[in-house]
Amino acid sequence: MPLDLANPDLYTTEARFTMWEEYLRTDAKVWSDPGLSPSGFWSVFSHRDVSAVLSPKAPFTSEHGMMIGFDAEHPDTSGGRMLVVSEGEWHSTLKRLIGPFLSRLRAPELQSVLHREVRDVIDRLRSEDSTDIAASVGPRLPAAVVCEVIGVPLSEREHLIDLTNHAFGGEESSFDRMTPAEAHTEILFYFHELIERRRRQPGSDLVSALLEDGRLSTDDVLVNCDNVLIGGNETTRHSITGAFHAFQAFPGTLDTLHDDPDLVRPAVEEVVRWTSPAAHVLRVATADCEIGGQEILKGQPVVAWLSAANRDERLFPDPHRFLPGRTPNRHLGFGNGPHHCLGAALARLELHALLQELATDARGVELAGDVRWMRSNLVQGYSGLKVTMDWR
Ligand code: HEM
Repeated sequence: MPLDLANPDLYTTEARFTMWEEYLRTDAKVWSDPGLSPSGFWSVFSHRDVSAVLSPKAPFTSEHGMMIGFDAEHPDTSGGRMLVVSEGEWHSTLKRLIGPFLSRLRAPELQSVLHREVRDVIDRLRSEDSTDIAASVGPRLPAAVVCEVIGVPLSEREHLIDLTNHAFGGEESSFDRMTPAEAHTEILFYFHELIERRRRQPGSDLVSALLEDGRLSTDDVLVNCDNVLIGGNETTRHSITGAFHAFQAFPGTLDTLHDDPDLVRPAVEEVVRWTSPAAHVLRVATADCEIGGQEILKGQPVVAWLSAANRDERLFPDPHRFLPGRTPNRHLGFGNGPHHCLGAALARLELHALLQELATDARGVELAGDVRWMRSNLVQGYSGLKVTMDWR
């Protein structure tokens, strides 16, 4: 019975890294029969094959869905409306509208938010004997940044950050009667109301810019805010949590960054490679083609495992090791090609701010419990990472 790579149980332990090693060594292309993912799918793992699938010239589309679970009979209903599952003209239009709100140009405005949030994180860590980074540190910074980008008014921000924290993995005790899925729905209700407000009273934020364009319905604005919300939270929080894990697994790394602050920049890239929170992306072939010697037929889904490609030793010698100064580091953590992460600059800013402050204040990280991995084939991340800190 061949392995169903859609099975989320495969990703709850570090055995997945041994599985990737074997697939990389044999340069495998694996077909998973229809099962948990109704249409089945091809999988590719090597840096070369993953780059080939995501290349702008490759005959593949995201428009029917971009993750395992793809069902040819019931394609993604946001297809052609939401940035990450749009192609061609409409994709370019959305990118032009949303891009400026996520670009490096926002850095000066975001610095104060980042500085305040990182200081809060450090104060919290200092005040506790042990802290679950996955629940109470990882989600905070991304939630604050996404609120800033979307244009949530200051007076409503704390509430929305708490809701986002609860929806994406945290355990906010103030929402103990709400499931994370209900918290996500609550956020969408909030966005709906914010859209109506911005329609009456435009501002200089993302929601107002999407409305002003005139081509997006309320629902289109909503799904694209949701894209930024999920894209910004579901990934970055695991890179942040994983940075603490890397500092624990490779003692001395914080001292290295403390002694040579120029290494913070390359270390940010290494965090994204080593953590690879977006485990895979899926594409559907728009023509018969060939990837790494494997024939792919028009209409077949192909899963590009970014998490495996980022541990391909042909590109990354000693791939499981966290090397803060790793150069070159052509990782695929942010994807590649036309859908390359639009929030990459913001994610880098968040990680840079965190690593810089941590290296100044902390000497090391120790585990205070087991590392708990998420049960997910899409997000390579943590459901728990309890640590104690060693301060300078
Ligand atoms: C797209 C990863 C942070 C917003 C993507 C894609 C990946 C990715 C792999 C490509 C999806 C595809 O090819 O189908 C990551 C990682 C992050 C991160 C690893 C953090 C470490 C962020 C942040 C934001 C964001 C902070 C916004 C606040 C987006 C958006 C897209 C995207 C809007 C869609 C781009 C398009 O389709 O053109 N991200 N992301 N991401 N990401 Fe990120």
